[in-house]
Amino acid sequence: MKMTSRSLSRAALASAFLATSLGVSLVLATSAGAATTLGASAAQTGRYFGTAVSAGKLGDSTYVNILNREFTMITPENEMKWDATEPNRGQFNYTGGDRILNQAVSTGKRVRGHALLWYQQEPGWAQRMEGSDLRQAMMNHVTQVATHYKGKLYSWDVVNEAFADGGSGARRDSNLQRTGNDWIEAAFRAARAADPSAKLCYNDYNTDGVNAKSTGIYNMVRDFKSRGVPIDCVGFQSHLTNSAPGDYQANLQRFADLGVEVQITELDISGSNQAAVYGTVTRACLAVARCAGLTVWGIRDSDSWRTGENPLLFDGSGNKKAAYNAVLDALNAGGTTTTPTTPTTPTTPTTPTTPTTTTTTTTPVPGDCSASVSLNSWNGGFVATVKVTAGSTALDGWRVTTVLPAGAAVTSAWNAGQTGSTGTVTWANVTYNGTVAAGQSTEFGFQGTGSGDGITAACAAS
Ligand code: XIL
Repeated sequence: MKMTSRSLSRAALASAFLATSLGVSLVLATSAGAATTLGASAAQTGRYFGTAVSAGKLGDSTYVNILNREFTMITPENEMKWDATEPNRGQFNYTGGDRILNQAVSTGKRVRGHALLWYQQEPGWAQRMEGSDLRQAMMNHVTQVATHYKGKLYSWDVVNEAFADGGSGARRDSNLQRTGNDWIEAAFRAARAADPSAKLCYNDYNTDGVNAKSTGIYNMVRDFKSRGVPIDCVGFQSHLTNSAPGDYQANLQRFADLGVEVQITELDISGSNQAAVYGTVTRACLAVARCAGLTVWGIRDSDSWRTGENPLLFDGSGNKKAAYNAVLDALNAGGTTTTPTTPTTPTTPTTPTTPTTTTTTTTPVPGDCSASVSLNSWNGGFVATVKVTAGSTALDGWRVTTVLPAGAAVTSAWNAGQTGSTGTVTWANVTYNGTVAAGQSTEFGFQGTGSGDGITAACAAS
């Protein structure tokens, strides 16, 4: 029989209906929790799932296939560290970091920058430095590297592993720490001034439960938040063996309650209980709304820095392990929807504008000192870096007088003692930067609201 156009369209409608209802049920099954990769299943609650990547492995097809398929965030394993990016003082090398960033961008992934300042993997020249010289080199490093990657990174680990292990809750001794206890906040301020859109994180290990070390960090973050030091996130490395502390989730939550994002940044877990512990850690992040995502520290067991411990989600051949399934199942079971945050500093406008840099120099006075101001400005605020240069004789203490334009006010400062905050503001050296050899310089800085255009500075020995 010949089909009429009416019966044809009826048949077409019927099969379209069948296809549609089948299609709908398939779609529903997927969105109801059967995402099949780590990245896609984490995305169901607004989170990322990342891995550390080594630039040298980007030619390994097994490695790259898993990377492209499973992960939505990348942390360069070594390529953005100080020894890699500034092997000689003032000479920057972004080859490895850029390679990873390009790989990420071209495959639609984001990047966590790691790490601007860390007492390990300092280049040899920095290891041999101390005091105000080192402080200057540190801040320059932060500014230069953060400027190179400006606008391109999800977040930066601005400072890595600055707290001591054990029961003190104190800072770890290092040449960085010996430049003055304010080095961490100075680094965060410099990073924010250089790249206003990257979230700025403090990152550490052995901080996975409530303990003396994590409480020391908690107190620092609380203090930073109360004083307007720009910090947006705290990274928990989570290099675990056999178990996670029972208060893992509660610890994440207490940091989240300070108003910072929390991230699991270098997850790897050894021991026979591996799969279960991976599940526990994943569920803890999912239960904390401000936990933005998890990153594992490598792809295959053979890629791990913990040689022989097999702490990752894929075996040496790239096969999924039981730990992988535990993570995937936990992600697919869902959790709180994460609330994305944007970096904000109380004294910084929320809409980043392109900073402009201007420099004012006063005439050097022989035998005395001179001061020059370099300004990083945005709409409504600025960071001023003041360079104090000794004249023909060494300084053993200095005072700088700055005159701020009407409407400008200092909100925070580093590397100098401050008197006043509007109009004429005077500055005195601190203990570690009063001595400056003839012709040499040291720097201090401050952040302010309003416009800093036209600030003048004059220096006198004291
Ligand atoms: C490790 C890398 O995985 C190794 O390749 C390198 O030799 C040493 O550093 N905490 C961190 C990471 O913040 O940068 C470290 O990465 C592991 C511990």
